[in-house]
Amino acid sequence: MGSYREAYQRSITDPAGFWQHAAEAIDWIDPPDRILDDSTAPIFRWFPGATLNTCHNALDRHVHSGRGDQPALIHDSPVTGITRTWSYRELRDEVAVFAGALRRLGVERGDRVVIYMAMVPEAVIAMLACARLGAVHSVVFGGFGARELAARIDDAQPRLVIASSCGIEGGFKGGFEGGIENGIEGGIEGRIKGRKVVRYQPMLDAALAESAHVVDWCVILQRPEAPADLVPGRDLSWADAVLDATPADCVPVAATDPLYILYTSGTTGRPKGVVRDNGGHAVALRWSMENIFGVRPGEVFWAASDVGWVVGHSYIVYGPLLAGATTILYEGKPVGTPDAGAFWRVIEQHRVSAMFTAPTAIRAIRKEDPEGELLSGRDVSCLRTLFLAGERLDPRTYEWAGDLLGIPIVDNWWQTETGWPIAASPRGLQELPTRPGSPSVPMPGYRVRVVDPYGVDVPAGVEGVIVLGLPLPPGCLPSLWRDDERYVRSYLSAFQGAYLTGDGGMFDADGYLYVLGRTDDVINVAGHRLSTGAMEEVLAEHPAVAECAVIGVGDLLKGQIPRGFVVLRAGVGTPPAVLEAELVARVRERIGAVAALRRVDVVAALPKTRSGKILRATMRDVADGREEPVPATIEDPAVLEALRPVLRTPR
Ligand code: COA
Ligand code: AMP
Repeated sequence: MGSYREAYQRSITDPAGFWQHAAEAIDWIDPPDRILDDSTAPIFRWFPGATLNTCHNALDRHVHSGRGDQPALIHDSPVTGITRTWSYRELRDEVAVFAGALRRLGVERGDRVVIYMAMVPEAVIAMLACARLGAVHSVVFGGFGARELAARIDDAQPRLVIASSCGIEGGFKGGFEGGIENGIEGGIEGRIKGRKVVRYQPMLDAALAESAHVVDWCVILQRPEAPADLVPGRDLSWADAVLDATPADCVPVAATDPLYILYTSGTTGRPKGVVRDNGGHAVALRWSMENIFGVRPGEVFWAASDVGWVVGHSYIVYGPLLAGATTILYEGKPVGTPDAGAFWRVIEQHRVSAMFTAPTAIRAIRKEDPEGELLSGRDVSCLRTLFLAGERLDPRTYEWAGDLLGIPIVDNWWQTETGWPIAASPRGLQELPTRPGSPSVPMPGYRVRVVDPYGVDVPAGVEGVIVLGLPLPPGCLPSLWRDDERYVRSYLSAFQGAYLTGDGGMFDADGYLYVLGRTDDVINVAGHRLSTGAMEEVLAEHPAVAECAVIGVGDLLKGQIPRGFVVLRAGVGTPPAVLEAELVARVRERIGAVAALRRVDVVAALPKTRSGKILRATMRDVADGREEPVPATIEDPAVLEALRPVLRTPR
């Protein structure tokens, strides 16, 4: 086991040597001879000229090297009562057949495919099938509604959409009783045996109607809980799509070709299409599995996230499979499926070595089972490490999980854009002690700096803006989908030679990093990254609304939750409660249930600067009970004073 300091130093002083060595763990068709192309800086490309196939590295190579019978994927679904395992060979074969089905539908290398599915194994199969063909998948989280889906379809311009007919959300009481009642009459949501079933088709239909782009086909996975009414000439069931399909082989692609696009929330309503390439991604993820997560081939790794988020892409699908480990796709919640002991059950049943989830999930368990009683009687001795990320890990949750499980709790900090941890305590290198409140230290390849507004590094202990020196390591976004200009403008323009993370924080005297929160209007609700700008757009479209603001306020369970404030047009007499219900419903329908906007207050005015900018950060400070000085640029301090009681009142 090497030392962290040596690995980090080498990655900075000799990045080409460091990553060339890491690249040896990948099967290449044409191995890299050049490691980094800096000719188009500030846009950099890793492993130019090399070719490979990511699906081959995730599946076929393990079958060839004798792991064919080892479990590759376990679908554990408490919401349907199903648990099923695929060996590497079985998964490879199903992926090859589905890739053949996609090819028959016209999908070729470079084509985009949007995947809008619940946590079903077919989502993983669809992603890997795209990778096999060199097609570019773009997975849209199932909790997003029609508008978010439409925006992604318009930007990615997919040939196909692959969707599941429904998702099954948690909340069922008692055991699974078998038998299924169909028929959620109309509408999007319904309950079947106490479970909430969300139909995806109405959202898909609305998104396709709203988007300008026209897709060739929609492949629909029919789930028995709520099958969709297929649209003739547009929709094809998954079962029909794969019927007699000829298995497809892996298509060689350039290391610099896109593997996927994953849209993420920025400050405006228009999501950003983060591009992931094939080569850098495979090298970085493989390296991270062994060195950061300390996972060896054959071990079981479980990321309790969703395939719609970057954690799901990197550590449910690609990372564990590239490493020859077994991955778990868990279709359930930390609580309510059936109780707060669900995570411990999964760890025991599948002998999980390392687990990854969001702090919110642990807070949800703690809330329901504060003494951890549901752990007793469970043998979770297989679990070596719990990794937590996606939002700030508050020290209380860190301590609670550590005391309960008696294993290291590893906070790690990263983003959709980077694809793998920027900072962590690497478990595969000589161990560094962890500290509450800190995701530990920068990972190899990341030149993490904390700077002041002029780009000057601030001393230890002083807060600033966190930036990453260029080039970013392999695996990080090379650009935004077909929009280099927006990539440069959004991330690379604030500070010369550096990538703006959007997070603020500081180093301590020992070089441990503390990430203290976003410096922009992006919010993080239950580990889900959301744009307040997108919610504001929906509120502003309501005919009664003259002006609005959405801010993220602190929440004990979800970290942050959104709150809306609207100023009405003159003469509007709708009662505030009626308007609030309408606005909440609109946001839920257009952005999705995951937006979790439940409160909108009607106010007389919004506090602004003299140049007309709404003082959202100041509103957030007041709502969270922080006594920060009011900016000198405020136009009318009386407006803020009038708003204070509303901001401070929980409902
Ligand atoms: N499809 C359809 N609806 C979805 C959905 C999906 N994939 N994911 C979430 N939703 C819905 C939920 O059912 C909920 O609906 P409701 O308003 O009717 O209750 C709403 O979106 C908000 O979801 P969420 O914020 O997740 O709240 P919750 O109360 O359902 O669950 C937790 C709270 C803490 C249990 C849950 O957020 C959780 O498990 N978080 C872990 C974090 C995580 O996985 N993060 C991913 C990055 S690591
Ligand atoms: P996402 O792109 O959805 O992964 O969200 C990334 C954002 O989540 C980051 O920019 C941070 O604001 C936040 N985040 C993720 N992990 C952590 C962490 N360990 N500590 C603090 N914030 C985090």
